[in-house]
Amino acid sequence: MEKSVKKVAYITGGTKGIGRGIAYALLQNNYRIALSGRNYEMAKEIAQSLGSSDNVLPIQSDVKNFDDEQNAINKIIEHFGQLDVVIANAGIGIFKPIEDLKIEDWHTMIDTNLTGTFYTLKASISELKKTKGYFISIASLAGINFFATASGYNASKFGVVGFTQAAMLDLRDSDIKITTILPGSVSTYFNNNEPSEKDAWKIQPEDIGELVVDILKLNPRVLPSKIEIRPSKTK
Ligand SMILES: NC(=O)c1ccc[n+]([C@@H]2O[C@H](COP(=O)([O-])OP(=O)(O)OC[C@H]3O[C@@H](n4cnc5c(N)ncnc54)[C@H](OP(=O)(O)O)[C@@H]3O)[C@@H](O)[C@H]2O)c1
Repeated sequence: MEKSVKKVAYITGGTKGIGRGIAYALLQNNYRIALSGRNYEMAKEIAQSLGSSDNVLPIQSDVKNFDDEQNAINKIIEHFGQLDVVIANAGIGIFKPIEDLKIEDWHTMIDTNLTGTFYTLKASISELKKTKGYFISIASLAGINFFATASGYNASKFGVVGFTQAAMLDLRDSDIKITTILPGSVSTYFNNNEPSEKDAWKIQPEDIGELVVDILKLNPRVLPSKIEIRPSKTK
């Protein structure tokens, strides 16, 4: 009987919060994973806590830099030989009224959340084509609803939704699937939060992990292109 090869997933921003929740869920479901962050020591520590180097590869990459993302994909192919799933999750939020929002705040959000998602997809398309793979972006409900103090964040996440949905239309006939997930409040380190009991009402990172696993189990003839997920209660 032919030995079945474990699929490989790459999670950007996989060292904390939602990315870490997705990394954990995929490992539990027989995937090999690569996880990245800007801080390599942190990526190494999280990778070691999750599993052996046969199954978990830590990578230093800043998604604002295309060469970092291209090197990340090259390392994954060197280490695992294939790439089946990419989760463009790395992101940050800076919330201030427009008069207080600095030029650098704007660029950090647009370059990380929007351009970073573009770089991650651009760097991985050719490998995903080979495996008829899956690209999932973690956008936000702030990608379809605007609110005060979020002008820069809204702009970046509206951009992510538009970009990934249009790319989905470009790539679906090449057998690359793209799903855009739009979470509401998730208990993570986002926006300087320290997850604690106060966040018990929110979506937990493992919930997004379960959602990703469920999406990947669907019959390949279907494509859930855009998914909104929110806490079932408001507090
Ligand atoms: N938490 C929420 O309520 C919520 C709701 C909707 C959507 N989201 C989205 O979910 C995604 C994950 O956020 P989170 O809530 O899990 O936040 P988090 O707990 O702060 O984790 C963010 C992760 O992204 C990494 N990261 C940040 N900038 C990066 C960069 N330039 N390059 C590579 N990695 C980078 C961080 O590692 P390093 O610092 O080491 O780089 C960390 O692993 C973001 O796109 C966010 O916009 C969050």
